[in-house]
Amino acid sequence: MDKVINSYDKIASFYDQLGQLVFNGALKKAQVELLNGYKGKNILIIGAGTGSALKDFEADQFESIDLLDISEQMHDRFFDTGISKSPNINYFLKDGRIPDLQKHYELIMFPFFLDQFDEEEIRKILISYRSTQSKFDDLAIIDFTKPKKFKHKVIAKIMLYFFRITTGYTLNKIPSIFKVSDEILSDAKKKEKHYYGSFIKSSVYSCI
Ligand SMILES: C[S@@+](CC[C@H](N)C(=O)[O-])C[C@H]1O[C@@H](n2cnc3c(N)ncnc32)[C@H](O)[C@@H]1O
Repeated sequence: MDKVINSYDKIASFYDQLGQLVFNGALKKAQVELLNGYKGKNILIIGAGTGSALKDFEADQFESIDLLDISEQMHDRFFDTGISKSPNINYFLKDGRIPDLQKHYELIMFPFFLDQFDEEEIRKILISYRSTQSKFDDLAIIDFTKPKKFKHKVIAKIMLYFFRITTGYTLNKIPSIFKVSDEILSDAKKKEKHYYGSFIKSSVYSCI
């Protein structure tokens, strides 16, 4: 489990703008659409980054919002935003690969978090979250699929190269995240949605 933990510290100051530019808002749109369905609920976001999707909401639209990331710079950027001051919001600087759930969540969301790990590690992460199933209702993964279109293959190559030189990312291809999650969560009800010409997928697994 204890492989390299990437450091997004170096790119935290421009990560959101870059993502917006390359994916024309699709990274955030997929998260906002999902969060819209969990108003009034307790949610946990793993690998939350600057929490940019939350800027479209008021904190009191949710019962509580917990965010978790390992990058101090991402954490600090979140605290530059207005929503971060609300008492029902907590940001934990922690390793999100290991679940440490202190309360019950209606939603645990992994937005563009699992793509940093190989399939073996994704499997371990999802198995350990699955083992805490009494602590949550739905588990959502928003991430990249295997690129099929030429344009997406080019973007994937440039993106992986960029993350390798900036964050210490070690993979040379996008892992088969959804193949692993469909396997681990095979008995859960699943709702899927595609974005950016199917290069991005949102899969919500209802585990209750
Ligand atoms: C690609 S960024 C996605 C950020 C955000 N979810 C978004 O959609 O804008 C991946 C995030 O995962 C965080 N991260 C990497 N390894 C982590 C770990 N082991 N535990 C928690 N967060 C981690 C990085 O610091 C980074 O903020």
